Formats: sequence, structure tokens, C-alpha cells
Amino acid sequence: MSKSHSTQYNHQFPGIPDLKARAKQRIPSFIFDYIDGGIDEEKNKQRNRDAFHGVQLTPQYLTDVSEVDTSINIFGKSYDMAFGVPPVGLGNLLWPGSERALASASQHANTPYILSTFSTTPMDEIAALAPDVAWFQLYTPRDEAVMKDMIQRAKTAGFNALVITLDIPVGAKRNRELKSGLQLPFKITPKIAWEALTHPQWTIETLKNGSPEFVNVAKYKTDSDMPLAAFISHFMVSGVSKERIAQIRKLWDGPLILKGVQNTQNALDAIALGVDGIIVSNHGGRQLDAAPSSLDSLKQLPDEVHQKLTVMLDSGVRTGLDVVRAKALGAQMMFSGRSFFWGMAALGQDGADQVINIFRDEITRSLQQLGCHSFESMDESWLTQDN
Ligand SMILES: Cc1cc2nc3c(=O)[nH]c(=O)nc-3n(C[C@H](O)[C@H](O)[C@H](O)COP(=O)(O)O)c2cc1C
Repeated sequence: MSKSHSTQYNHQFPGIPDLKARAKQRIPSFIFDYIDGGIDEEKNKQRNRDAFHGVQLTPQYLTDVSEVDTSINIFGKSYDMAFGVPPVGLGNLLWPGSERALASASQHANTPYILSTFSTTPMDEIAALAPDVAWFQLYTPRDEAVMKDMIQRAKTAGFNALVITLDIPVGAKRNRELKSGLQLPFKITPKIAWEALTHPQWTIETLKNGSPEFVNVAKYKTDSDMPLAAFISHFMVSGVSKERIAQIRKLWDGPLILKGVQNTQNALDAIALGVDGIIVSNHGGRQLDAAPSSLDSLKQLPDEVHQKLTVMLDSGVRTGLDVVRAKALGAQMMFSGRSFFWGMAALGQDGADQVINIFRDEITRSLQQLGCHSFESMDESWLTQDN
């Protein structure tokens, strides 16, 4: 029940846009562009938000809503809220210590935390900080031996679910990132130096903690002459095949989830391959500007998919009401990358609880306002007729 948790948070930043505005002041522009940027003209990113605004829900009063249960049961486990942290590569670049802080806060709140393949904290540390709620995201390695090794490491560390991301068959060309000049390891150009000097808190914290590194894949970089960017782009397969998923299914006996599904046939393929869940996602509008909004992808899934798979969603979620809207359309668990990392950049270590508490409060109030006493029972009967 949501009642057992705090809904207290810093009222100077009551919503995610307030945290974004503060983050923009506190971090260098090359970091802000990394988290905020989309692909091409950023229309898919905008479409994700517009689609949420288009979902109307009609209240049903004459119900006692003094007690509201925000929990959700998926993969045989109850989570206290249907909102978690999706995988975000280079998490500690946004604010040093972000990955540990978010994993600990998620464990405390009993909400899912997904660690990226390209995270900057050792995977066994994260699994130990969040033993009940940590999931591992895999960018399928080109080299099958590396793939097997990473899955075994995720199993040994104790991750609760394995998430395979499908929506990066090719590295994205994101113009904002290219223009802002972010490179790893850091290359000090006059522009980067100026940005670092004018954002001293971020710079001091980053200097104290050291330049973030891809610690979980570093051991596979056997050619020391290969530039890091070339290693990372060569690391993944160009398009995860059904054969690879079938292979992974044999190697991983816990919940297996495909992330980045946008098409009904792929959801049906997931069922045929014995997968347990999907995350409907377009990577937050960072891959294909022509892609449909995440909610439009969700809306076209047939009943069979909802009956046989746990359907989850990200891309564009910014409020607790959005989480409730997606549930009315059939999704069971929602995630938001930018919300959490804006929170970290805005408030440092306090950012994790701030975002969790904002969402818990907004989900609870939205359910109460709609006359719904439990998140599990939010369904299409609340959708306004002409949605
Ligand atoms: C800076 C950044 C890095 C990301 N890195 C990864 C990643 O390593 N693996 C992955 O599966 N998704 C990654 N994503 C996508 C997120 O998991 C998620 O799909 C997206 O953030 C959802 O959109 P939202 O930020 O609008 O909420 C990344 C997103 C951002 C913004």
C-alpha cells in the first residue's frame, strides 16, 4: 500500500519540468544534450508527450478513496508502485553516484531498477544494493561467448530479470550530441573547459569521482589500440535476431523481457519465443524520428498479447497521471529515463527519492481523483469515450 511510504518531497521542485529546469542550470550543456536530446528533428520525442496529453480519463465518483493501493503484481512479485528506472547508459555522467543512489532508492521504495549494459557501476555492486528489484539490460553482444558470459554474470550477481533491447540496430546520429562535442574519455576542448568552469558543482563532483567508465564491458576490450567509441559501436549485433532470442531464452530461466517493441508482429514473436514480457518503447525518441508514439504502439496491441505477456511501457512518461493513463490502456509497469536523471542532476543524491515521491504522490492523487481505489483495477472503463 502506498500509505506505508512517504509522499514528502521538496516543494520547490514539485514536478519533473521543475527538475529539468534546475538540471539545465547545474550541468554542462554537453551533458544536458546527452540526456535531453532526441534523434533528427526530435518529433518522435514530442509525439510521445502529445500522445499522453491526448488520453482523457473520466472520473467515476461515489466511491470511498481514502485508502489507495498503488501496488502491482508482475512476474510473481509485488512492486509498491508501477513506475521504475529504465536502463540509461553512462548514468554517473549525469551526476556522479547516480546509479548507486537510484538502485538504493528503488530497493527502498520496492520499485524496479534496470541497469544498462553501458552503466558505469559494477553490475554486482548494483545487484547487492537492490537485491529484490534490480533487473539487467543487455545490448546483445556480437560475440556469442561474450553474450554467454554477460548472461552468466547477471545470473551470478542475482539480477531478477533480463531485458534485451531491440531498438538499436545501428548507433543513432543525434545532432545535439554531435554538436555539443561530448567524447569519452573526456577530451578537453575550449568549449568543454568553459562548460566545466561555469558548472563548478558538477565538475568538482566529477573530478572527485573520476571520469565514468564502461566498467561492465571493459574486460572485453582486448585491443588496447581500438578507440573506445569504435569498441562500443562494434560491441552489439546489428539487429537482434529471433535465433539470438531463442538462444538467450535457453540461457536465462528467470523473467525475460524484450525492450523497444513497437509492432504487433514483434509482440507475437515474443510470445512464440517464450519471452515473459515486453517494454513498449522507442528509446525516448532517440532512434527513429518517424516512429509512432509509445502510446500509439501500445494501443494497437491485440488482447492476446496482454493475456500472454506482461506489457510495460516507457518513452514520454513525465507524470503520475501518465502512469495511470498507460495503465488504462493496458500497460502494467512504466519507466522514465529522463525524469530520474534530471532529478539526479538537479538535486544530487536527493534526486532519486524526489522523483519516486513525486510519482507516488501523483499516481495516488490521480487514482483518488478518478474514483479508483487500486492501481490494479484501473482499466479502459475510465477512458473517455472518444479516446
Ligand atoms: C541518456 C540516455 C541513455 C540511455 N541508455 C540506454 C541504454 O543503455 N539501454 C537501453 O535499453 N535504453 C537506454 N535508454 C532508453 C531508456 O531506457 C528509455 O527507453 C527512455 O529513457 C524512455 O524515454 P524518456 O526518457 O522520455 O522517459 C537511454 C535513454 C537516455 C535518455
